[in-house]
Amino acid sequence: MKLTCDAELQPYNSFGVAARAACLAEIHASEDLQQAVELAESRELPLLLLGGGTNVLFAGDFPGMVLLMRNRGVEIDRESGLVTVAAGENWHEFVQFCLRNGLYGLENLALIPGSAGAAPVQNIGAYGVELESFFVELELFDCADGSLRTMAREDCNFSYRDSALKQPRPQPQVVSSLTLQLPREPAPNLHYPALMEELESAANSSFCAERSGVAESPVTPQDVFEAVCRIRRRKLPDPAEIGNAGSFFKNPIISQDEFEQLSSRYDSPPSFPAKEGVKVPAGWLLDQCGYKGYEKGAAGVYERHALILVNRGGATGKELHQLAMEMQNRVQSEFGITLEPEVRIVGAH
Ligand code: EPU
Repeated sequence: MKLTCDAELQPYNSFGVAARAACLAEIHASEDLQQAVELAESRELPLLLLGGGTNVLFAGDFPGMVLLMRNRGVEIDRESGLVTVAAGENWHEFVQFCLRNGLYGLENLALIPGSAGAAPVQNIGAYGVELESFFVELELFDCADGSLRTMAREDCNFSYRDSALKQPRPQPQVVSSLTLQLPREPAPNLHYPALMEELESAANSSFCAERSGVAESPVTPQDVFEAVCRIRRRKLPDPAEIGNAGSFFKNPIISQDEFEQLSSRYDSPPSFPAKEGVKVPAGWLLDQCGYKGYEKGAAGVYERHALILVNRGGATGKELHQLAMEMQNRVQSEFGITLEPEVRIVGAH
């Protein structure tokens, strides 16, 4: 285990904001976890688990110990199609690895920044697919009592961008690996309209280029993977170039009545059916308020997507947090809809 005292967290969060932690522990194995937790206990330091740091905003310093998962490894059981990935693996590289090895289904989740261990915590989802549909179980280290245990799918309470692991508790539960069941036969999921449009336009352009006959070839998982990567690269800023944490807020779910009120004010607002009502894109609501491309010093909103807060260089976590609260208040007063952050906010007073 590598331990750093009074650690700078800027390299470990995709917003690229400066913040300090009393201590930073890089974890390579479960023995490291045990040791780190004992040390934190002896010094009465609170613990904070960080994956790739792609879904967190440090609004201030963290006066405790940050645990950084660095364990690696992927194991495939070809007979069953079960694949187990260590929490410290990069999610996108894992998606590519599965595709190369003839295990399908994760192609819609390509290019999601962050670590594999963070994927079940917020039940990552994109382009019509959520992690929970492939999830079997995970291995967990409970910092409260030092126990290692297996958590099955039914114990995870997965829902939209949420799981039992996301619930706040005094001591974190650390995912050390997760196991997925992936189909060995391609079965592309093409339900998300923007994905379908992208695939159609790619098919049309290759059709024009070849000037060939009708020969419609079936869409492959690799086609889906590439289409998702193209859409994401076009719409979302690359954290390596511009600090951001993807969607800052969750898409709110409103009642059918509220949606009808919204529809009477706006011509066909975008929406998706949800279990408890209608899901309205937070990006669209914020766009109506004029937030696309908004700037407030170095903190701002991406010019191609109103749901993405960005650090244009040198913004503080506090500035980004203030901007997020301003946006939340604006949507509340404009639409009477409450936006809930998707990003975890740490160190706010
Ligand atoms: N829209 C606007 N203006 C904007 C942004 C979006 O009008 O500035 C409209 C779009 O035109 C579209 C609708 O809102 O009609 C939905 O937009 P988009 O397809 O970009 O998806 P989203 O709902 O904003 C969600 C996820 C993304 C995920 C995409 C694709 C959440 C909070 N976000 O975004 O996840 O990639 O769907 O599935 O659910 C992330 O979690 O960090 C993330 C990027």
